[in-house]
Amino acid sequence: MSRYLITAALPYANGPVHIGHLAGCYLPADIYVRYLRMKGEDVKFICGSDEHGVPITIKARQLGITPQDVVDKYHAIMRDAFFQFGISFDHYSRTSAPIHHQTASEFFKTLYDKGVFVEEITQQFYDEEAKQFLADRYITGTCPRCGYENAYGDQCENCGASLNPTDLINPKSKLSGKTPVLKPTKNWFLPMDKIQQSKEFQEYIKRFDNWKPNIKGQCASWLNEGLQPRAMTRDLDWGVKVPLPDAEGKVLYVWFDAPIGYISATKEFLTADWEKYWKNQPDKKDNPTLIHFIGKDNIVFHAIIFPMMLMTHGGYVLPENVPANEFLNLEGDKISTSRNWAVWLHEYLQDFPGREDELRYVLTSIAPETKDSEFTWKDFQARVNNELCAIVGNYVNRVVVLTNKYFAGDLNTSSAVESHPYQKEMDELFQRYTKAMNNYQFREAQSCAVEVARIGNKYLTEKEPWKKYDASNAESVAETRTVLINCFSIIAQMGLLFKPFVPRTAEKIFNLLNIAADKQIWTNKVNLAKVDDFMDLHKIKINTSSVILYQKIEDEQIEKQIQKLLEKKTMNQQPSAPSEEAVKAQMAETTFDDFSKMDIRVATILEAERVPKTDKLLKLLLDTGIDKRTVVSGIAAYYEPEKIIGQKVVMLANLAPRKIKGIESKGMILMAENEKGELSFITPQKEIITNGSTVK
Ligand code: MF3
Ligand code: ZN
Repeated sequence: MSRYLITAALPYANGPVHIGHLAGCYLPADIYVRYLRMKGEDVKFICGSDEHGVPITIKARQLGITPQDVVDKYHAIMRDAFFQFGISFDHYSRTSAPIHHQTASEFFKTLYDKGVFVEEITQQFYDEEAKQFLADRYITGTCPRCGYENAYGDQCENCGASLNPTDLINPKSKLSGKTPVLKPTKNWFLPMDKIQQSKEFQEYIKRFDNWKPNIKGQCASWLNEGLQPRAMTRDLDWGVKVPLPDAEGKVLYVWFDAPIGYISATKEFLTADWEKYWKNQPDKKDNPTLIHFIGKDNIVFHAIIFPMMLMTHGGYVLPENVPANEFLNLEGDKISTSRNWAVWLHEYLQDFPGREDELRYVLTSIAPETKDSEFTWKDFQARVNNELCAIVGNYVNRVVVLTNKYFAGDLNTSSAVESHPYQKEMDELFQRYTKAMNNYQFREAQSCAVEVARIGNKYLTEKEPWKKYDASNAESVAETRTVLINCFSIIAQMGLLFKPFVPRTAEKIFNLLNIAADKQIWTNKVNLAKVDDFMDLHKIKINTSSVILYQKIEDEQIEKQIQKLLEKKTMNQQPSAPSEEAVKAQMAETTFDDFSKMDIRVATILEAERVPKTDKLLKLLLDTGIDKRTVVSGIAAYYEPEKIIGQKVVMLANLAPRKIKGIESKGMILMAENEKGELSFITPQKEIITNGSTVK
């Protein structure tokens, strides 16, 4: 027996969980854990809420409540939703717990005492009005790469460039709207460049060879570029306080403290025993196996940074694998919390009570294991109706109904039971299943379980007892009995294969056959247990008239869900009815005076060309009615340069000139933007409007 410590990414407690979270991380983790438990392994499954970090402080500010209020609310919502979907954490904790603050703080102190960190004074943006340093997300400005005006200090969401706050043109504080100033501040850096060179790290990364290609690829590209030192402390007041005397007003970087949450949650759960699941053992063969399930945006933190922390601390085992998934899209669009484009788990539970297994099944069937994938309600309906109802549920019910009809539910016999002709095919399926499970290919493994039901249906159809059964013929009765016993043996084996995926269905099957929990294990690590290891084929007796494992999903139910999504979409598009949150997040009120400072006028594009080495930028020559001037504009994804010559546009003419990619840009073209970020020119409606006409 091996010892496993399995983690699922600690979700940020700043919003409820949706199907993308489930498909990307929590469901695969749960499937794997249930599989290990079924094999009789010693496994602990750990998770909790990630309650620090800047997004939570932003959310609190938007809603006018404290960060603690935010995390208290979402911690409970997330925990309950996971529990209802059968995500079988052994322990679900939270990073605001005192034991976490203590553990993270000690961990930091150990690295500090060992001289791991590099102390550095850097210039950080400071908001003089709000009297605080600004986290990257609290600074917005113009992206130096594409010219997008609302780029964040760490990233431009328009072109995807990863940025430093000082890269932004015209930076503004989101707290006060003022231009922040640079001020020196001391922080502690993890010298990732240096650690990358160490023998221990080089040894560790050999493991990547066995990892899924999507993760291996990402890691390789970071390592090839060369890792950079990264600050493990931040000037912020929400988080774990930096345990040093000269660190007033500083907390640990959220990506430093959060993964330590796995450790503190284990401590909280196991108390004195926790080290057996985390630390190197005197006999190396006795070491625990650590596996992190995550979404693809978390790869660098789990595959590189956290292992570096564990390694420099010493004593800990390093992750054996980090099986990350890609993203799940919804009805043709990216899932987005801020645009409310999501299927929320708590809403699904209200609309489809008791049907958690159906969603688990469908999300595993379409899991984004190697590339992004897509959920649609129509596909959900088709999979539930055509696979779960028509193949799995129907098979089980047919067998139960026939058993009642011919044997009053009792197949008890003392004669030998010949096994059915498909056991060999099934043994092959079990091999395939085991291999897929061990390689984190859960779509493939789940399909093997459905395949077993197909075999059962085929067997029953071939034997057609409804035609052959003859109550007056003892031989026919005996043969029918054998067929039905074999059908139940197939059902039991299917139950075992399904157990990690749809646990409530498996439970119903095992209840039907009276198979106790301690029998539902694999006795052999490679092959699945033969059915006679866990049930006695001579003593099958059922006491139910029918078994309905799944109900069909009706068209109306699906229409309703699609309607609900579309309503959300139009609500998000209507500027007249933005959510309370959106209003708060938007800019403060402006005055007419401020507005009239802007010289907005009509102009015509005379020339247009792409800016070399950029995807988004066009260099335009405009006739503004007062002069001819050059403007650089981030519209290349939406307009071909050749096709816009002669196009009338609206521009902000008195914007301070700025250099973009070395080109002096004088002014800015005003564009209309939809919620997907697609852009369109705004054009005057009447011919009488000529170059230089003003907009007011
Ligand atoms: N909260 C992060 C996210 O949702 C994940 C944190 S995982 C941990 O993306 F390792 F840091 F805990
Ligand atoms: Zn950009």
